[in-house]
Amino acid sequence: MCGIIGYIGSKQATPLIMEGLRKLEYRGYDSAGIAIFDSDHIDVIKQKGKLSALKRRLEGLHLEGQIGIGHTRWATHGEPSEVNSHPHLGGQERIAVVHNGIIENYRSLTERLEAKGISLASQTDSEVIAQLAEYYYDGNIVSTSIKVAHRLEGSYALGMLSLDDPDVLVALKKDNPLIIGVSEAGNFIASDVPAILRHTNKVYYLDDKEVALLTRNGVRFFNFDGEVIEKCLETITWSMDSAEKGGYPHFMLKEIMEQPRVLEDTLQSTLSDSANKQVLENLDLSGYTKVVITACGSAYNAGVVARYVIESLCRLTVEVELASEFRYKDPLVDGKTLVILISQSGETADTIAALREARAKGAFTLAIVNVVGSTIAKEANTCLFTAAGPEIAVATTKAFSTQLVLLYALALRFAEARGALAPEQLAACKAEIATLPGKVASLLEQVDTLQKYAASCVGYKSIFFIGRNIDYAIALEGSLKLKEISYIHSEAYAAGELKHGTISLIEEDTLVVALVTNERLFEKTMSNVEQVISRGAKVLLIGNCPGVQPNEKLTFVSLPACFELFSPSLSVIILQLFSYYVAADKGLDIDKPRNLAKSVTVE
Ligand code: AGP
Repeated sequence: MCGIIGYIGSKQATPLIMEGLRKLEYRGYDSAGIAIFDSDHIDVIKQKGKLSALKRRLEGLHLEGQIGIGHTRWATHGEPSEVNSHPHLGGQERIAVVHNGIIENYRSLTERLEAKGISLASQTDSEVIAQLAEYYYDGNIVSTSIKVAHRLEGSYALGMLSLDDPDVLVALKKDNPLIIGVSEAGNFIASDVPAILRHTNKVYYLDDKEVALLTRNGVRFFNFDGEVIEKCLETITWSMDSAEKGGYPHFMLKEIMEQPRVLEDTLQSTLSDSANKQVLENLDLSGYTKVVITACGSAYNAGVVARYVIESLCRLTVEVELASEFRYKDPLVDGKTLVILISQSGETADTIAALREARAKGAFTLAIVNVVGSTIAKEANTCLFTAAGPEIAVATTKAFSTQLVLLYALALRFAEARGALAPEQLAACKAEIATLPGKVASLLEQVDTLQKYAASCVGYKSIFFIGRNIDYAIALEGSLKLKEISYIHSEAYAAGELKHGTISLIEEDTLVVALVTNERLFEKTMSNVEQVISRGAKVLLIGNCPGVQPNEKLTFVSLPACFELFSPSLSVIILQLFSYYVAADKGLDIDKPRNLAKSVTVE
């Protein structure tokens, strides 16, 4: 899941491309490269490592030219190295390509090229595209790119420069995101919005099997039959500031602090006259006998929380499936199944495949997505949008929290439609949810306590998260958050499971983070806490239960009172801050953790 960008216009391309790559670096940071069209040749500079390494490499070099493409890489095929970096040139150096995605038949294509005496310089799948383009070049870069596309299997978003087509930039896509930005000073291609938002908020969303031909003064679109097609220009509502750090040391901390506002915005979007309210009101739930939630990573964890909420409020069975499993398990879904897909980016390959599998089996698909115009938003039968704004840090925080409140609103809509709650219970739940932004704001004032406590936790090799029922669901997210950014091994367990094996791992000074937000299970969870303390563990207890006595073994972080079912929206704030400050104290690259990327657009 690389980041690609391109520009053609009246300005020098190099600074625009480099600035765009800075905004795309959260998509991959194994290497970076740039290709600039300079009158009679294409200059290609690429460098292993973070964008800063390429920046240093470019110092003192004058890459002149008003047309260029750039790439930041998340390595899938071929180790991170200079030769495997993009842009890739064909053997005659007449066509340069940047690629996001995976070419699944690259081995057979490589053999066919080698049989024609064309050998590849790199170990990547992507280079075959540049070599094929040079081999099939027919004097027209659009028809050439279509010829190449017809031979590719897999997923791709491409930017292409051709020495024989000096005044154009070509882009095409299949199964990976690509937008075309238009501005007075020229036109852009980019993997996503923040990369070009400084220059324009006017974009076209390229759909699968479409080609864009960009010139300095316009953009033309073609389908893969070479026919001209028309597309709608859309306006992005996100502000430029929302894609900046705003004075915070990391996007993650900024996004954690934005949660009261984005929660309020997302809640308002379910109440006021908006698309979300329409979608909720138009949902006809009468025909469904089963609800399946499917997603990946943190979005999956939001689904696990939602299962407890929907089953409890609506007395309706909910299955939660990992999308990467759901897509290949021949799932038992049909026309009587409502499949809910959750995704921040709307571009996660496994979740897209799960969506297509569910639709193919006749299920009704409802997506919860943060990015307007994304593939999942466009392909689902209906879609609810979280109002988190652009989320730059790889580890999701604000988008996760807005997914929770949209799922609560959905559960209440289900309960209302099924008459599962009395009107006063429904009103009480709605009133309780409306208090969440304020309660989150009060929790964010506890950063100092968490920062101090986290500093004492950087040495742990392994940390356990435990909870019962919905606390177990949010413990999953706490554990993932910590792993993602601190590189400390951690696992989440249903507290009652500990004594069936895992407790053998508890020894002197092991850290256990325990969540207890419902009085009903307070005693049960506290006995699990005492069990681990008696084996030497230290415990960070997060909950809203009176009568807890902190001691040298037990640190207690109190949460504001809250309905048990909505308490994940509060406990997750503490879990996010804890993970952030542990990673910050370790001096790690929090916004761009190793081996990760923000949007997993490949399998
Ligand atoms: C979460 O912090 C991670 N970035 C990752 O687990 C993420 O939740 C997962 O890749 C799903 O992404 P999506 O919500 O964009 O589909």
